[in-house]
Amino acid sequence: VRLLVTGAAGLLGGRLAQILAARFEVVAGCRDNPPPPGLPTAHLDLASPGGLGTVLETVAPEAVLHAAAIADPDRCEADPEGAFLVNTEATARLAAWCAGRGIPLVALSTDLVFGGDRAPYREDNPPDPISVYGRTKAAAEKAALEHHPRAAVARIALVAGCGHGARRTASEAVAQALVAARPARLYTDQVRTPIDDRSVADGVTKILERGLSGIFHLGGGERLSRFELGCRVASTLALPESLLVAVRSGEQPQKAPRPRDVSLDSSKTAARLGWSPRPLGEALRESRLA
Ligand SMILES: NC(=O)c1ccc[n+]([C@@H]2O[C@H](COP(=O)([O-])OP(=O)(O)OC[C@H]3O[C@@H](n4cnc5c(N)ncnc54)[C@H](OP(=O)(O)O)[C@@H]3O)[C@@H](O)[C@H]2O)c1
Repeated sequence: VRLLVTGAAGLLGGRLAQILAARFEVVAGCRDNPPPPGLPTAHLDLASPGGLGTVLETVAPEAVLHAAAIADPDRCEADPEGAFLVNTEATARLAAWCAGRGIPLVALSTDLVFGGDRAPYREDNPPDPISVYGRTKAAAEKAALEHHPRAAVARIALVAGCGHGARRTASEAVAQALVAARPARLYTDQVRTPIDDRSVADGVTKILERGLSGIFHLGGGERLSRFELGCRVASTLALPESLLVAVRSGEQPQKAPRPRDVSLDSSKTAARLGWSPRPLGEALRESRLA
């Protein structure tokens, strides 16, 4: 099956393209940055409506994994129109194209579609985002499902473990600071269910191979604050815990508001797919240290 992976140069998108290439004939859709080596590529700019259609016709995918997005909440907060164009409108166009060809679409979404006051969140809980990023992604989910009734939306929790390219996963950011003997200031009041690249790839593979549709939660088995995750990284990789500094959101504000606790309850997805996340420690050991 020829699978177009959009955002194949991304932190998570690149890892998914690489891992899924063992099962699918992956074409790496990317814009400025390189995807993992060895994959055929297609230049794809989601901000150019005409260009998207041309690329899709040329690649002629038999399935699409949509991982491209402006995924930095602070960047989205600074440019809401740009974020809406790429995250929401491009997803709608992609979904309509896939629906028109009758091919499966898995669109990646985020735990940040939730507001943080009612965790853990199940697949059928209504999104109540508090940031521009969250709003554009919640609108993208809706658009994907409206334009393509058989689309799948996979909400991903905070990514830990090994990533691709210049950005760092949550565990890599901490590990690299500690290796360089720099302090890592980590929030104690932002709780997520960290998940790793391989577990996401496993879930997405199952969704694609079975042609499933609807909303899926791919979150890890542990609810951890950024600070607690940092402690796990330090202990797992034998790095100095003394460099971890606990901070609260109010002490070190970020441009985009962050929810307090967006833990995902992934039990329904786990039962539906016969899926379970890998043990977190195993994934943390794969973090890139440089
Ligand atoms: N990383 C996480 O912790 C996390 C957590 C939850 C959900 N997610 C979701 O998972 C998906 C993948 O995330 P990620 O971590 O791989 O994000 P990322 O590292 O920010 O990568 C996003 C990719 O999207 C591409 N992109 C952005 N604007 C584009 C445009 N106008 N046209 C074409 N491509 C464009 C970028 O291409 P260039 O490299 O060429 O700029 C980049 O490769 C996203 O849907 C994100 O919302 C991620």
